[in-house]
Amino acid sequence: MANSAVSTESLGGTKSVAYTGKKLRVAMVGCGGIADAHVKMFAGIPEVEIVAGVDINPEQLKVMKEKYGMTRLYTDWRAMLKEVKPDAVDVCTPNGVHAAAAVDASQAGCHVITEKPMAMTPAECSRMIAAAKKARKVLAIGFQYRYHPVTQMIKRFREEGQFGNIMFVKCQALRRRGIPNWGVFGQKELQGGGPMIDIGVHVIEMAHYAMGRPRPVAATGNTWTYMGNKKSDVVSMWPGWDWKKYTVEDLAIGHIRFENGAVLQIEASFCGHIEKDVWNFSMVGDKGGCNWDPAAIYTDKAGTMVNMTPAWLPQGDFSSLFTTKLRNFVDGCLKGTPLEAPGEDGLAVQKMLDGVYRSAAAGREVKID
Ligand SMILES: NC(=O)c1ccc[n+]([C@@H]2O[C@H](COP(=O)([O-])OP(=O)(O)OC[C@H]3O[C@@H](n4cnc5c(N)ncnc54)[C@H](O)[C@@H]3O)[C@@H](O)[C@H]2O)c1
Repeated sequence: MANSAVSTESLGGTKSVAYTGKKLRVAMVGCGGIADAHVKMFAGIPEVEIVAGVDINPEQLKVMKEKYGMTRLYTDWRAMLKEVKPDAVDVCTPNGVHAAAAVDASQAGCHVITEKPMAMTPAECSRMIAAAKKARKVLAIGFQYRYHPVTQMIKRFREEGQFGNIMFVKCQALRRRGIPNWGVFGQKELQGGGPMIDIGVHVIEMAHYAMGRPRPVAATGNTWTYMGNKKSDVVSMWPGWDWKKYTVEDLAIGHIRFENGAVLQIEASFCGHIEKDVWNFSMVGDKGGCNWDPAAIYTDKAGTMVNMTPAWLPQGDFSSLFTTKLRNFVDGCLKGTPLEAPGEDGLAVQKMLDGVYRSAAAGREVKID
């Protein structure tokens, strides 16, 4: 594939010691905003060679060609899979396309990583897992917040038993005014929902991971749409969204019950009259509690209630989180090392998102299988 491959060094990534082993030949499916970030981060992983790009929009393919020198460009992933035969596929399309692309890629014998959320429904997630299992290939989900140094710290405290029995987890992914003004984020049939599935998913995935992945059994939820479907002149960070096509919720509140008796509450908004944006989770256990932002541990020591803060943690910026998640995927493909975010975790998170939406539609608590 040397003639069609994009050299990772030519993408402006960190120069590292020359890698002479077998490269993982990765094809991008969906070449929009997040794919651009992935291609940049892959450039810092010398074991990876980007071999093709697929997008239904030729303009996006042109960007990949001009920016990264990609030459094997397709508008249909099936044709790409047949002709390029990549080792791995990175699915960066809107949510509604994740399952079809991932299943076809697995059936073509490829490892797959798909961006968050895993898909639009738990049934789609189950099909993705079954296809990857049958092909005996890796299926990873692009959840990056579980790699965050604070999430990892909280996980270590939980594993040491410092929180005791975790009873309550509160998750917040709240924007005061942040309706995406690109892509199809306002279209329910292509995305599956609004802030709950788009940003609530981030905080749920890290909190659920930090809790030790308990099994969700029931959900209640409420959703409201009151702003995104109307024209607005208010000055905000992403003005001019497509309000005429807006069919998702503006605000969603959910309540998940787990098999072990714990409860997780999730609040997610694209827009709401709140003081400021919030991105956080907190936990309350019978021996201790914690907060993600700012990072803190709450407990009793020497007959005293204490609040502890880490003296130092590594940076958890966008670039380091994305590089770590892609590195975990690449190592899983090339070395068989364990995935931090396997398909099964994507399915568990999807069941929670789906439970909230089903409950909101039904107006009562719903069971999660
Ligand atoms: N992990 C994160 O922090 C993060 C951040 C942003 C987006 N995302 C996820 O990434 C995905 C894409 O988001 P984005 O912001 O890049 O959106 P985007 O609209 O910028 O890009 C999506 C691209 O997919 C293409 N596409 C649509 N249907 C296709 C098909 N059938 N075949 C091939 N290409 C197709 C579109 O033309 C577009 O170029 C979403 O699932 C989103 O939730 C994740």
